[in-house]
Amino acid sequence: MQLVSPSVLSANFLNLEADIATLNASHADWLHLDIMDGVFVPNISFGFPVVEAIARQSQRPLDAHLMIVEPDRYVERFAKAGVAWLSVHYEACPHLHRTLGHIRALGMKAGVALNPHTPVAALADVLEMADLVLIMSVNPGFGGQRFIAQTLNKVRQLHQLIDTAGFGTLIEVDGGVDASNAADLYRAGADVLVAGSAVFGASSPEQAIDSIKFAL
Ligand code: DX5
Ligand code: ZN
Repeated sequence: MQLVSPSVLSANFLNLEADIATLNASHADWLHLDIMDGVFVPNISFGFPVVEAIARQSQRPLDAHLMIVEPDRYVERFAKAGVAWLSVHYEACPHLHRTLGHIRALGMKAGVALNPHTPVAALADVLEMADLVLIMSVNPGFGGQRFIAQTLNKVRQLHQLIDTAGFGTLIEVDGGVDASNAADLYRAGADVLVAGSAVFGASSPEQAIDSIKFAL
């Protein structure tokens, strides 16, 4: 699968309506929402009022990436807000198996996000509970950072793990993705590429999305 999930973090917050309309008219597959609490990561982004407003406008499934401590406290509210794919960080969940089960029980697809230092092998015993694994290719907290090249090996390793087990888990890569590394990432086994600054920093977001989605 070769999907693109543009990150709203790099959109124009003074005119989100126009940016969501642009995404609705593009080949974007999902819409990526970065939720930061200032504790798990050294930055604060946006919360439910913004998520709910975006949900009303977006014609694409919402892909929420929770960079927050104790995500269990908010899982239900994200379900109510209309989120389709909900990813929690491995590093923030002492009872990850239960958290993923909770997300699925609420009718959402369950995702696990891994920081750059967390090996994919850490997921071996919980992979069957995950519909999605989000591999961070930068340290989470900010858009516009440089892609960590080791990510390609991680994607290959995870792809093999999923293949061997025979699961349908999707692999998403997030951070520093653009047209220059998209083909390598899809080839390594990535299914969904998140792109923030590469999309909204471009003069044509639609073309930037296409240059990632059709990179192969
Ligand atoms: C970083 C976020 C990313 C970010 C990606 O913590 O998880 O989703 O928005 O931005 P770019 O594509 O600019 O690296
Ligand atoms: Zn993200």
